[in-house]
Amino acid sequence: MKKYLSVILGIILTACLVACGSSNKDSVNDDKQEVINNQEISDTEEQEISAENKQTEMDADSEQENEEKVAVVYFSGTGNTREVADLFAKETDADIFEIIPKNMYTSDDLNYNDDNCRANQEMNDESARPAISNDLSAVSEYDVIYLGYPIWWGTAPRIIQTFIESYDISGATVYMFCTSGGSGIEKSISDLQQLYPDVNIVDGKRLNDATELDIREWIRSLTPIS
Ligand SMILES: Cc1cc2nc3c(=O)[nH]c(=O)nc-3n(C[C@H](O)[C@H](O)[C@H](O)COP(=O)(O)O)c2cc1C
Repeated sequence: MKKYLSVILGIILTACLVACGSSNKDSVNDDKQEVINNQEISDTEEQEISAENKQTEMDADSEQENEEKVAVVYFSGTGNTREVADLFAKETDADIFEIIPKNMYTSDDLNYNDDNCRANQEMNDESARPAISNDLSAVSEYDVIYLGYPIWWGTAPRIIQTFIESYDISGATVYMFCTSGGSGIEKSISDLQQLYPDVNIVDGKRLNDATELDIREWIRSLTPIS
């Protein structure tokens, strides 16, 4: 009888051990599966993050590509327009180009009380195209050009015509600015629009003694927020 009991107990014990062993195995397997699942989730997350990063990089690249290239181009006889142009370039973060005459204007050249002064002679001669000394071909690559000059006899100096005829700025949106003794910019704009219909001259403003705020407000008025 004792022998039977010990055999039965032995069987029960073995069954228990087998059951426990298999349940331990199950839990190890479950743990393994969980680790695999977690690994898969973190792999997916990593893929998503790297896709997001790639998209951000692409957005930044295309933003850079879409960014407008802005240039301030100016001529100045006695420095007034230069001052505004410098301020303008600073405010717009634009590249600045000076139209430098081959023969610089002396104060005698600019003495408009003298009928025969060089500036008056040029303004009286529709075909006058005073030569430019520097290479401004880079301006053709710009999307927006702010073109500045002093008003001479109610309009733009002839050297502005030399500039427009020498370089292809037909791909740019062009805004004019000027300084003057009192005349407005309007006549110079309509004169140049008529002479150069292929150039996209949109608007302009007289900016005598302009402050940074004046410039900023004008620029903002040209590009209304949609
Ligand atoms: C030849 C000449 C003609 C000018 N004609 C005018 C004019 O018609 N109306 C005006 O208001 N100012 C006239 N001015 C004054 C200039 O427009 C003004 O002084 C301007 O600010 C000069 O700019 P700048 O220093 O950049 O050359 C004339 C100046 C010169 C030299």
